[in-house]
Amino acid sequence: MATSRIAVIAGDGIGPEVIEPAIQVVDAVIRKFGGGTLEWNRLPWSSAYYKQTGHIVPSDGWETLAKHDAILLGAVGSPDVPETVTVHGLLLPMRRKFDQYVNLRPAYLYDGVPSPLKNKAPGSIDMIVYRENTEGEYAPVGGRLYEGTAADIAIQTAVFTRRGCERIIRAAFEAARKRPRKKLTSITKSNALPFGMVLWDDVFNSVKKEYPDVQAGSLLVDAAAMDFVRKPEVFDVVVASNLFGDILTDLSAMVTGSVGLASSANINPERTFPSMFEPVHGSAPDIAGKGIANPLAAILSTALMLDHLTMTAAADAIRAAVAAVLKEGKVMSPDLGGTASTTQVAEAVMAAI
Ligand code: NAD
Ligand code: IPM
Ligand code: MN
Repeated sequence: MATSRIAVIAGDGIGPEVIEPAIQVVDAVIRKFGGGTLEWNRLPWSSAYYKQTGHIVPSDGWETLAKHDAILLGAVGSPDVPETVTVHGLLLPMRRKFDQYVNLRPAYLYDGVPSPLKNKAPGSIDMIVYRENTEGEYAPVGGRLYEGTAADIAIQTAVFTRRGCERIIRAAFEAARKRPRKKLTSITKSNALPFGMVLWDDVFNSVKKEYPDVQAGSLLVDAAAMDFVRKPEVFDVVVASNLFGDILTDLSAMVTGSVGLASSANINPERTFPSMFEPVHGSAPDIAGKGIANPLAAILSTALMLDHLTMTAAADAIRAAVAAVLKEGKVMSPDLGGTASTTQVAEAVMAAI
């Protein structure tokens, strides 16, 4: 049976608190369902590591990571370390260096989970956002002049390429084609952004012709924000640029109960580089160290990782166990209105496996 090597970067804040239980859940599911073996390689890269060594990723770090089959990440970001070190030194370069251009973020309203929206039935919200993950508004292009003076100027340039738009839009069409509703919404802002977003729309409209079986349409991002709240059930697959996808996936997480349930996969579809799996949420400094973080987003992210490693039975078993725990509603973390600790939630999932 094949062994997959997983690099684990638990990171900062609640990162390690949710990643260790998630690893335990995966080990438990593999003991029961088999399908392969995993070898966990824990890497200490974090804000604490930076404070000790002066770097967050060692000089051979990217080479080390590249030798793995997948990366499991908690979160990086600490109030006492600049985001230029954590986010710009580790997270964003990883997505770009490993060409993880598909950031897949499902949002599903589980039975037993209260939505902050009124009268939403279990399963009525069931969408998946395909977020472009390597360019767009996150391109590291720009500069700062006369910093700190009255003449201070900052230029932040968005970069949209035909190739970059086409590959994420095509991935989203392929995903929509495989889902029962076969619906795809492209998020735009071409009314206000006449270069990048117009290229995005052009590519969307041309790729659309190859998918006559998919019901495809475009929606301005401001109207989309409204409709994610007003009628989230109309969305099936959604494709968005880097920044719009980022913002909308905190919203899709919240209308389905909590960011504590939101999983994500950063995929390099060509498999030239390892893909990375992480919860949508961050290091949550406000609750770090209290043992109350919801581990389900991290646990559901491991299911996406097992999908990627074609360990489908194990992935499905994790999703079924999470759904069972939520439906029963006895062991819920505070973000879902309960009083259970991180450990208690993870133990409930293991018991359900
Ligand atoms: P956050 O997602 O960390 O927290 C937002 C809110 O959600 C907080 O109130 C937090 O307590 C709550 N929350 C988040 N995860 C939760 C969980 N599992 N269970 C219960 N509640 C949860 O976002 P933020 O506060 O804007 O960012 C904090 C830091 O994390 C920043 O440094 C940011 O850059 C970083 N960040 C990192 C990643 C990543 O590494 N992938 C993602 C997002 C934010
Ligand atoms: C996310 C996070 C990151 C992003 C931050 C930490 C740069 O918010 O993964 O959603 O904006 O992509
Ligand atoms: Mn985000």
